[in-house]
Amino acid sequence: MLKPEENELLCRVGPDTGMGGLLRRYWLPVACGDELVAGGAPIRTRLLSEDLVAFRDPGGRVGVLDEHCPHRGASLSLARNEECGLRCIYHGWKIGADGRVRETPSEPESSSFRHRIRHAAYPVHESGGLVWAYLGSQDAPEPRAFEWTLLPASHYVVFKARVACNWVQGLEGVIDSAHLTHLHKDLFFRAGDAAGGERLGSISMDGSPRLEIEDTAYGFRYAALRRAGDEASRLVRLSHFVAPCFGLFAGPMALPSVQAYVPEDDHNTAMYFVIADRENPIGEDLRAALRTALGMVPGVDLDAGLRRVRRAENGWLQDREAMGRGETFTGIAGVNAEDQAVQESMGRLYDRGREHLGTSDVAVIRMRRIMINAARRYLRGERDDLVGLGAGARTDELCGFERLAPAAVPWQELVGADA
Ligand code: FES
Ligand SMILES: [Fe+2]
Repeated sequence: MLKPEENELLCRVGPDTGMGGLLRRYWLPVACGDELVAGGAPIRTRLLSEDLVAFRDPGGRVGVLDEHCPHRGASLSLARNEECGLRCIYHGWKIGADGRVRETPSEPESSSFRHRIRHAAYPVHESGGLVWAYLGSQDAPEPRAFEWTLLPASHYVVFKARVACNWVQGLEGVIDSAHLTHLHKDLFFRAGDAAGGERLGSISMDGSPRLEIEDTAYGFRYAALRRAGDEASRLVRLSHFVAPCFGLFAGPMALPSVQAYVPEDDHNTAMYFVIADRENPIGEDLRAALRTALGMVPGVDLDAGLRRVRRAENGWLQDREAMGRGETFTGIAGVNAEDQAVQESMGRLYDRGREHLGTSDVAVIRMRRIMINAARRYLRGERDDLVGLGAGARTDELCGFERLAPAAVPWQELVGADA
């Protein structure tokens, strides 16, 4: 349970808020790389309550600019994407990816007016299938590497969906191991059957895992420990919280997976879902199967704006009849669609003064504490050495995993060991 002022501090991301300031100290995903076509349409996007356009120039370089033309505010999503910048279609002003106004053809030729204008342009880089932007006013830190960002593109798949609620509701889902056994029961039973294995089935049987957490420089890591049928062994699921908005866990087929819940504003979130395989390339068939299993199929699950067709207004298209026939626990097809439905069902910005947290919620509680404390430090003027930014906050070797292990072996000893 959080006091109202703590909930506000945790959730709100505008430029004048503590969390908004803190989040502006990190590189954040702003688009998938394949959303931006060289020389193609700039896309409108929102990040931390800022209206932005992201684009890839004809030479392949990406840029992120304030959405509204510095002349009189027309959206640069309508602009022509030319060499060296976007040309606003209203009066033809041309804005470079660095924010310089390069041409003002509606002004007299002798005008030097344009040199006095600097449009908001943000540092940007591309890795791991994502375009990352830095919205802070200080110098940007080194871009962070994750395990998947160091792999060839053939070894990972990236999905994106937009969620109609506050980012913390999404983030809390990805560091909440207990919900797997319940919300995703359909997946684990089916996956267990298909694999002919008991391993995934054992998750389903133990719906009250014991959670053990250790703080780290990047956030924390925690193990969800489940009974596995006999006293001598247990199922260990190790996950990481990487500040400010990343969860690393064992995803479909126990492949290392990452979810990022990136705030568009206080009531909307962009969810990026990465699944990686360090051993083998992920072929087209598997990509398609994952897309279907997660509920991420464009035109079926997602509309052209990457919003889900399952939404509050249509009751998330929950199939009560199939539930009645015993075919499904949730009545919602697609693992990520299940996540999104419960996250959105909490309301656009949940009042955490009304909740009742139990022992399975300790990772959620720890994340909130870490982020609230970091936002308070930010408000006190501490700008460096915040969680995930200080020395020792490397993330390039982290991954979540799931292993059946002897109960007597501390889970810490499994980290880095071969499966
Ligand atoms: S509004 Fe963009 S050039 Fe006039
Ligand atoms: Fe989930």
